[in-house]
Amino acid sequence: QVSGYLDDCTCDVETIDRFNNYRLFPRLQKLLESDYFRYYKVNLKRPCPFWNDINQCGRRDCAVKPCQSDEVPDGIKSASYKYSEVANNLIEECEQAERLGAVDESLSEETQKAVLQWTKHDDSSDSFCEADDIQSPDAEYVDLLLNPERYTGYKGPDAWKIWNVIYEENCFKPQTIKRPLNPLASSQGKSEGLCVEKRAFYRLISGLHASINVHLSARYLLQETWLEKKWGHNITEFQQRFDGILTEGEGPRRLKNLYFLYLIELRALSKVVPFFERPDFQLFTGNKVQDAENKMLLLEILHEIKSFPLHFDENSFFAGDKKEANKLKEDFRLHFRNISRIMDCVGCFKCRLWGKLQIQGLGTALKILFSEKLIANMPESGPSYEFHLTRQEIVSLFNAFGRISTSVKELENFRNLLQNIH
Ligand SMILES: *[C@@H]1O[C@H](CO)[C@@H](O)[C@H](O)[C@H]1NC(C)=O
Ligand SMILES: *[C@@H]1O[C@H](CO)[C@@H](O)[C@H](O)[C@H]1NC(C)=O
Repeated sequence: QVSGYLDDCTCDVETIDRFNNYRLFPRLQKLLESDYFRYYKVNLKRPCPFWNDINQCGRRDCAVKPCQSDEVPDGIKSASYKYSEVANNLIEECEQAERLGAVDESLSEETQKAVLQWTKHDDSSDSFCEADDIQSPDAEYVDLLLNPERYTGYKGPDAWKIWNVIYEENCFKPQTIKRPLNPLASSQGKSEGLCVEKRAFYRLISGLHASINVHLSARYLLQETWLEKKWGHNITEFQQRFDGILTEGEGPRRLKNLYFLYLIELRALSKVVPFFERPDFQLFTGNKVQDAENKMLLLEILHEIKSFPLHFDENSFFAGDKKEANKLKEDFRLHFRNISRIMDCVGCFKCRLWGKLQIQGLGTALKILFSEKLIANMPESGPSYEFHLTRQEIVSLFNAFGRISTSVKELENFRNLLQNIH
């Protein structure tokens, strides 16, 4: 039932569907299968900072299988030798390696100077996420292709508790709203009366929630025998979450928020193109030929994204009075950081992995959209050396967008399945 124009922007669902499903989705999938994007380093053992009665009941479908150390290409694991020898002698420089995504070892003198500059400009106050300590011995590489996001059986009170905290504690909201135990049940009118930024914050979270539920409905555990498991579309599950009548109008609203999230991440990607266009930027894994091909594919995708005609205009955010706007932006950031910490409280490891990845990806998108450096120093004409993203940020940004893109594609699949029933 979702069609037509979306609120708070000038775009319509049909244009997004066509653009995503036929032009973007197939190429993006190919990119995400590459070594650079499939290995994500994550610490799944960080303790929950908010409460300690986490129910890790060892559901098998929740298990995450980390990579053996020989599975991950050396180029991804060891950051240091991507730099010149001189640079390697400086500890500072080594830390840079992860952050830059990867840089050719044959750096010109000029670039080396720039590298030093970047350190000075690294400013974690830009960050929307609490960074995982990926240097920790507990952090491990995970192969995202071997640990797909799908139905795990993690639902009910444990899962509601997480979503409740996210919605109720962390979303800007009018004070009068009661707390529903089950956020799926009632959230009507929740975002009314809020300014555009706070409404946007709520819509991003709701969109993420919707996207995750689309995935769980599309990769549902349909059948289990001792021989094999069968995963696929469960229309009943989908309808329970999104049908206009069954959800009293909430479902279509949630799906509109999914499209809103799509537009926000799409806009961030279009804005950060010059960073990826820098000649010294590589998707470094150590395999020269493959790395070059991947960069070409990446740029092709980014140029396609840039050509999208109905980009969201983030300038409507945090406009207004400068002091007010800055305060609001800081609030926005703190709330979002808090949500990234809540991910450590998710009981199901598979869900925790994808939750962390998607929150970090969205956080990276917000960092791009609201970075002053990017605005001030990255005109369409040339790359800025003050703005950078770590490999972790790059991997999460594209994988998070890949999830939302997959959700939009899955909506088409569900639409077709539902048509066949009627
Ligand atoms: C689909 O999901 C519903 C719950 O929404 C469940 O009751 C049903 O058993 C599922 N169908 C299959 C084939 O697993
Ligand atoms: C962060 O989350 C915790 C736990 O829900 C809450 O107590 C705290 O007030 C939150 N802080 C912000 C800034 O949202």
